[in-house]
Amino acid sequence: MKIGMLTGGGDCPGLNAVIRAIVRKGSIHYQDKFVGFLEGWRGVIEDKTMVLDLPAVGGILPRGGTILRTSRTNPAKKAEGLDKCVATLTGHGIEVLIAMGGDDTLSVAQKLHEKGVKVVGVPKTIDNDLAGTDYTFGFDTAVGIATEAIDRIHSTAESHNRVMVVEVMGRDAGWIAIYSGVAGGADVILIPELPFDIEDVAETIRGRHARGRFFSIVVAAEGAKFSSDVNPEHGAPIVQGMAKDEFGHARLGGIGNILAREIERHTGFETRTVVLGHVQRGGTPSAFDRVLATRYGLGAIDMVHRSEFGCMAALRGNKIISVPLSDAIAKNRTVDQDMIEVANSVSERLLARKD
Ligand code: F6P
Repeated sequence: MKIGMLTGGGDCPGLNAVIRAIVRKGSIHYQDKFVGFLEGWRGVIEDKTMVLDLPAVGGILPRGGTILRTSRTNPAKKAEGLDKCVATLTGHGIEVLIAMGGDDTLSVAQKLHEKGVKVVGVPKTIDNDLAGTDYTFGFDTAVGIATEAIDRIHSTAESHNRVMVVEVMGRDAGWIAIYSGVAGGADVILIPELPFDIEDVAETIRGRHARGRFFSIVVAAEGAKFSSDVNPEHGAPIVQGMAKDEFGHARLGGIGNILAREIERHTGFETRTVVLGHVQRGGTPSAFDRVLATRYGLGAIDMVHRSEFGCMAALRGNKIISVPLSDAIAKNRTVDQDMIEVANSVSERLLARKD
């Protein structure tokens, strides 16, 4: 079979492991041929390709990023963008397209599927917020990086009697914040799902200091929000500007600095911020992510040969299964109550207005 492949949206450790697994099993087991489309959907619209054969995937397993490069291009927002995609795929004689991405990239795959293109999806986002699957690859690596940072921040926070706010990624879901916060023993964890009251945060930190712990670690997802119950002007994430990408997302960031200022104002304790940013997405994938990504890749190429089109490889329990793309893009998978209970039980308090 002749198969096209692309990676879209933010990059993520493990993408190369998926590409490698697909090309290896496809070439050796099924005698498939591959065309790599560069820079996400942009490469399909503009017909930018690379050779994707066994030599091309040699040595890429431990490499971060994606050899196909990526972009947040949305063909549905370009004049005849989807038709251009169909024309490029037809021109190359592509029988099936494997699209690796989060809900944005996969929503385009779904639109092409509805136009008759045979597509298979692979779930990708370090935010771990894609529905239909238990875990996305890259998440474990990001949590590992954030946890190491929190560990390191502990000793300097303690030495200086400071509050340290660590801002981690997580636009709509606080999976990275809650996992790294629990793993790193954070005192306060703030996630987009549970808007917070700054006075609750301050009270928790004051309580800790009153008990003789003169430092505190606050982990906040970049999408964490002040509660609009307290101030009707709140309730929205902090954005870096008014610009939006082609999928309608504003660039988040800044909650860490605002929190630090407000914590200092409410408590009088010296407070600093560390924004981990793209460090969380860079570099080599963890062993867990390499294995998970490899399993997703093998799942996807087997789905191609079982004609499971319009579907995405997914992890359920410890099995790779196939789910409809429409299920995966229907909603975000937010942090569940079980994990919130875990954090509430071991943090000073997961600050949230649950009512
Ligand atoms: O979608 C994953 C993600 O890492 C989000 O957590 C973050 O808000 C966003 O990507 C950052 O995107 P960019 O790389 O375009 O700055």
